[in-house]
Amino acid sequence: MGEYFGDVLKRAMSRRDIVKGALFGSAGLALFACGGGSGSGGTPSFTSIQPNTNDRITLPAGFSHNVVIRWGDALDNGPNLDWNRIRQSGPTQDDVNRQASCFGYNCDFIGYFRTPDGRHLLAVNHEYCNPELMFPNFLDGTRARSGRPTRQEAEFMMEAHGVSIVEIRRESNGTWTYVRGSSFNRRITGKTPIEITGPARGHRLMRTSADPEGVRVLGTLNNCAAGNTPWGTVLTCEENFQSYFVGNRDRIQDSLVRQIHQRYGVPDSTYGPMNGFNQVDQRFNIESEPNESFRFGWVVEIDPLNPQRTPAKRTALGRFRHEAAFSVVAPDGRVVVYMGDDERFQYVYKFVTRGTYNPNNREANLGLLDEGDLYVAIFNDDLSGRWELIASARRNPDGTYAITPNPRLGEPYRNDPALCFIDTRGAATALGATTMDRPEDIDWNPRTGSAWVALTSNDRRGASGQPGVNAANPRPTNHMGHILEIREANGNPSSTTFTWHIPILCGIPGASEANRKLVIYGVEAPANAPAISAPDNFVIDSRGNVWIATDGNPSSNRLGLNDGVYVLNPFERVFKMFLSGVPGCEICGPEFTSDYRTFFCAIQHPGETETNEPNSRWPYDSSNAIVPRPSVIAVWRDDGREIFV
Ligand code: FEO
Ligand code: CA
Ligand code: CA
Ligand code: CA
Repeated sequence: MGEYFGDVLKRAMSRRDIVKGALFGSAGLALFACGGGSGSGGTPSFTSIQPNTNDRITLPAGFSHNVVIRWGDALDNGPNLDWNRIRQSGPTQDDVNRQASCFGYNCDFIGYFRTPDGRHLLAVNHEYCNPELMFPNFLDGTRARSGRPTRQEAEFMMEAHGVSIVEIRRESNGTWTYVRGSSFNRRITGKTPIEITGPARGHRLMRTSADPEGVRVLGTLNNCAAGNTPWGTVLTCEENFQSYFVGNRDRIQDSLVRQIHQRYGVPDSTYGPMNGFNQVDQRFNIESEPNESFRFGWVVEIDPLNPQRTPAKRTALGRFRHEAAFSVVAPDGRVVVYMGDDERFQYVYKFVTRGTYNPNNREANLGLLDEGDLYVAIFNDDLSGRWELIASARRNPDGTYAITPNPRLGEPYRNDPALCFIDTRGAATALGATTMDRPEDIDWNPRTGSAWVALTSNDRRGASGQPGVNAANPRPTNHMGHILEIREANGNPSSTTFTWHIPILCGIPGASEANRKLVIYGVEAPANAPAISAPDNFVIDSRGNVWIATDGNPSSNRLGLNDGVYVLNPFERVFKMFLSGVPGCEICGPEFTSDYRTFFCAIQHPGETETNEPNSRWPYDSSNAIVPRPSVIAVWRDDGREIFV
């Protein structure tokens, strides 16, 4: 067992004599309420629902929803995918071609945009596929004893990944539909050409036989969450890219390459064969193409307003299992991007641009993310913290980069500073970054003037041979996860020092084990508070309410109930549950329209059981459907007012 949080806190307190409760941002007792709120002071007035196992979307009284777009819906004017037939007999080559123009699988992030002439667009990520639910008889047991896709199934899945840009519109009855054949509609898939920009462009580790210059890669994969930029592009994040690679690492000659692959878990022996992308293209076999995986694990900038613009992998933002990338403009005009690396014991990062945001010239902002400073977070046990510089990247007039690594870094980063961006994990580890409980989304809350960090869980915290607890990750065997708030010095997101605290330790009200209790601002939640676990993604409304989507409630280690969406008012400390999904799904992509009258979220992998048999066939919009379909839904108040009133 690792040391428990009480010991860490005691040590921290004796050092800095902080008052009890400061860890939770409250000196003394916090006000706490749940259930129906008054609606005054900014708390949404709806009556909290409770987590459940319903095979339908559950909302508070007075709200409605509809399905906006589903896996297989055509973005062009061609036919939708015939998902029942694909489930029964597998995809044909024609299905592969159609998937490239149809909405992809497992929708995750949702970004909402307006065109200059007022049309509504969504950018939606397609994180991964569930071949066991898409194709016939895929698994020979569970995922651990995975099936192997046919070449055509693998190619189909490659097209079902990536991003969709889709125009939507609000109908007069309040529902939202998507616009088939809109000139804005676009698919970016596992095969779309993408430019490599920034300090790692052209580096020897970025070169492959198909791209000897190291400047262009085919596809973006495992696009989990993302963020919108102030200039109206989307920063889509490549998370578990290791899960597409196969091969034997020990057969690679270059020991540095072997070392970095090991640090990033490349190849992944469970998911690599299950995706089978090496059957389509040998670049997914690390023995044939040892460098291809260095070309994944990046933040990718896409312009939803210009379907002709080539997406760009912005290497200055570092390479790791990127969950999301949230941009906020600092008082001096520089842009700060908060990012988490979603793996147990990985880190929290931010990037600060060198240049400043130009609100009057959109084009001038499109190179901003290629130059700047990449930092990793160090959380001290006394509730202070600092951003440790990993490296600065500056573009020379000839297009090459001057990279200044942190002077504390030794080899190999000193000799080859571009490695700070390609092997960001290694550099951050060398600088003593704080190991976290799986950093997911990090959103800036303009009303609290702070960054909110979702730490989804870490079942290995404190286990034998693993790091023990620290004050920022205070629970051993942290199945439930927690939410941490970073208060930057002077409320300025570009500051390099901060204080922090933990507004929510997720869990179940009244749970007997200390690491499973729901604790809000240092106070154990009352019995009628909604249980929550595995916080994943946030959206923050204009009143500063933090809306939280979860990924993991169904696990027997957690709630055994459907995932959902919750909301915390950080001022009144009111906590409620807003939405419950269906069996097997996680909820992702929480997003509002700019008028806050519509809330969007993604129902990802409905019916997922890790066997061939789904436990839900949601969305039940077709009487003969035998397959569940990941979909985006829109939610609105029946009285048409803002969601948060
Ligand atoms: Fe794809 Fe970290 O969730
Ligand atoms: Ca996620
Ligand atoms: Ca977010
Ligand atoms: Ca997730």
